[in-house]
Amino acid sequence: MAGALVFVAVLLAASVGATTATTLTIHNLCPHPVWPLVTPSSGFPSISTNTARLGPNALLSLSFPPTFWAGRVAARTGCDAAASGCWTGTTPPATVVQVTVHDGGNLDQATYSVSLVDGFNVPMVVSPQAVGGGQCPALGCPINLNCDCPPQNRTAEGAACRGPPEYFKNRCPLTRTTPTDVEPVPQSCRAPGELKVIFCQATIVTCGGEAERTVLADS
Ligand SMILES: *[C@@H]1O[C@H](CO)[C@@H](O)[C@H](O)[C@H]1NC(C)=O
Repeated sequence: MAGALVFVAVLLAASVGATTATTLTIHNLCPHPVWPLVTPSSGFPSISTNTARLGPNALLSLSFPPTFWAGRVAARTGCDAAASGCWTGTTPPATVVQVTVHDGGNLDQATYSVSLVDGFNVPMVVSPQAVGGGQCPALGCPINLNCDCPPQNRTAEGAACRGPPEYFKNRCPLTRTTPTDVEPVPQSCRAPGELKVIFCQATIVTCGGEAERTVLADS
């Protein structure tokens, strides 16, 4: 009897896409602190105060609105105490996660990508969890592209890289490196309960053994 009720409840939950809550989780696996910057696209509400400092292995959990929302996530590094000044991530060159949720007729479609169009600062991967259906591949760049960044394209004393796009695409094909670029894998993700953004997933954050002094500095 109780089992049947639970079964009905699960069916109801699965069929009401518009009310499926979606969480944005940001997990910092970098060995240095990161200050996430979540920016809504024009016309959408803010979902973060953008004051959190994530130490190594720290998590931040935010709630998307239950309606259509679009925006981006960047990773600021080397910020001062109030996060009013940062070494990288506030302006290009910087890695940018682009997200939409609760899109489409059923309000259950999510899209996501990692853009290197404006350059690179921190390795990022987006990994949908608890998905309702469709194809939800993990996308992004787990490699520290600052290491082999062409010397003339380095900025922020080697903590960010301007390109070129071919350099990014060769090493991180599951990203977007030009305005018309797409990933070579299909994506049609429905009703993810969680969009997980991981900074420095399984990545080597030192370059040839030399630590990235600027981003490692904890201010
Ligand atoms: C990389 O540096 C070269 C040489 O300075 C420059 O011509 C090129 O525009 C740079 N590429 C990017 C994407 O900034």
